[in-house]
Amino acid sequence: MQDHGFILWLTGLSGAGKSTLSNALLPKLMATGRRVEVLDGDVVRTHLSAGLGFSREDRDTNVRRIGWVADLVARHGGIALVAAISPFRSVREELKSTYPRFVEIFIDASVEECARRDVKGLYAKALKGEIPHFTGVSDPYEPPLNPDIHLPTAELSIDACVDRITQTLTRLGYIK
Ligand code: ADX
Repeated sequence: MQDHGFILWLTGLSGAGKSTLSNALLPKLMATGRRVEVLDGDVVRTHLSAGLGFSREDRDTNVRRIGWVADLVARHGGIALVAAISPFRSVREELKSTYPRFVEIFIDASVEECARRDVKGLYAKALKGEIPHFTGVSDPYEPPLNPDIHLPTAELSIDACVDRITQTLTRLGYIK
């Protein structure tokens, strides 16, 4: 466990702010002196999880693969910063109990708020029925019941979210 890094797992709807927040967190985490690796669902799906779709089974496979790589990073002393919808509670719980030093962060924004932002234009399509199994619209999102950090992004600025994360990581002894 000596010099073991840790996993920061950002879960939430598409458009909730996971990628934005991980970009804002990155320099703060790098300033700790640890190497940081970002594992973003959108990016991972272009290689490690290429070919997987959005059925429950495929999402769980995607999430397990990301968890496995995140653990490798952490075992080598790095920080794995994960941004993936990871909508199903049971597989998140599985990862939490499998991997040590796993911090679950709930990036909380309502479907209405995400649809209003609609950064990628996906909600407009999903609401018209053009994207089957779209999380929050035609597929479930199971919010964490007891996340390590809960960030309602409609109420908090990005800076405030970053501060809450770094404060919690300091309190938990993950960073100084
Ligand atoms: S997860 O459910 O397997 O964790 P992941 O985070 O990797 O999802 O990918 C989500 C991204 O895929 C979204 O941000 C969006 O850009 C895209 N996407 C395409 N189809 C869907 C869909 N049916 N549901 C959710 N996201 C989708």
